[in-house]
Amino acid sequence: MLCDCIWRNARLATLSPNQSGLGEVDNGIVACKDGVILFAGPAADAPPGIDTPESIDCEGRWITPGLIDCHTHLVYGGDRAHEFELRLAGASYEAIARAGGGIVSTMSATRAASETDLVEAALPRLDALLSEGVTTVEIKSGYGLALEHEAKQLRAARELAQHRQVTVVTTFLGAHALPPEFADNPDGYIAEVCQTTIPAIAAAGLADAVDAFCEGIGFSREQTRRVFQAASAHGLPVKLHAEQLSNLHGASLAAEFGALSADHLEYLDADGVAAMGKAGVTAVLLPGAFYFTRETKLPPIDLLRSAGVPIAVATDCNPGSAPLTSPLLAMNMGATLFRLTVEECIAGFTRQAARALGRSDIGTLEAGKACDLAIWDIERPAELVYRMGFKPLHARIWRGH
Ligand code: NIG
Ligand code: FE
Repeated sequence: MLCDCIWRNARLATLSPNQSGLGEVDNGIVACKDGVILFAGPAADAPPGIDTPESIDCEGRWITPGLIDCHTHLVYGGDRAHEFELRLAGASYEAIARAGGGIVSTMSATRAASETDLVEAALPRLDALLSEGVTTVEIKSGYGLALEHEAKQLRAARELAQHRQVTVVTTFLGAHALPPEFADNPDGYIAEVCQTTIPAIAAAGLADAVDAFCEGIGFSREQTRRVFQAASAHGLPVKLHAEQLSNLHGASLAAEFGALSADHLEYLDADGVAAMGKAGVTAVLLPGAFYFTRETKLPPIDLLRSAGVPIAVATDCNPGSAPLTSPLLAMNMGATLFRLTVEECIAGFTRQAARALGRSDIGTLEAGKACDLAIWDIERPAELVYRMGFKPLHARIWRGH
């Protein structure tokens, strides 16, 4: 059987759900054909006759699935360094938002930017992710807050995949903050999102899912419900920024709609965990935002574990609450701040992140999955989580190349 390429003499962390732990394999190979994994496992178990003109000696390096950053706001205009300084002087993230800064200040910069400006601003951030082994990135809108600008943001996100070898998954987050045109009329804005924006974004095929910010400085549970109903009516799966700063019981609403994920979750309670567990909603934890906003309330990790809720981890890369472009540092924060295990951190950026995006074609090293690989100069997988600021990536393979 001829394949395109074999990576041999490698140690694998397959992340296969059928193996325990990280699915570690000592003398392993990965064989690829047409961008898809033909075989990944012990060299001794390779199908007979598997052969290739191209074989790469990994010299004992570790191969994991390419990393998946399943929650980012990577495309935006401007920055919020000034607000960071205000926060250092004592202002809170919420107080800045209520005073007209926060998401709305990034909205102004994003509206002023062209699609090309947005792509150019996002590329260095994307490159930082790629340099740490990312092969799939989810990118949300939510800084346009009007159809024209939300669509521009989503097109810019999609365009990034024309410039780099990476899979881009887009999420419409129109219900992120109230734009000034609708000051004092949040229901009016939600009506526009549901009746005009979502239908147009869906018709243009610009989004793979719909998200909202269910929060005191965002939208209420009832308003979020309307957004979810509109998304469902247009065949789009939903996910939610839930229980980040307070408990509006967004996670149980997400569960009611069969959401792909509920994200942040610091203020999630036991009922919310139970609802997520029952509905199979993935929890996306964002330790970078927890760190950067100096949050002190921890997400209920033990409850999530005992309810069997899949846990993903992501950077949340955004200009306000997490200007973070390092998945490895996000893993380190997940371990040190949230006490996640090494296994949970790595699964959180691979197999479970794929779940949070509703993607069954990526996230593990198994036959039939996309051949997206990260090859690491490390002695053991724990090093990916343990170090800070280290760059252990040896090579990144996207769709077999
Ligand atoms: O994931 N919580 C809402 N959205 C972002 C932050 C957006 C911003 O501050 O620009 C988040 O934390
Ligand atoms: Fe976010």
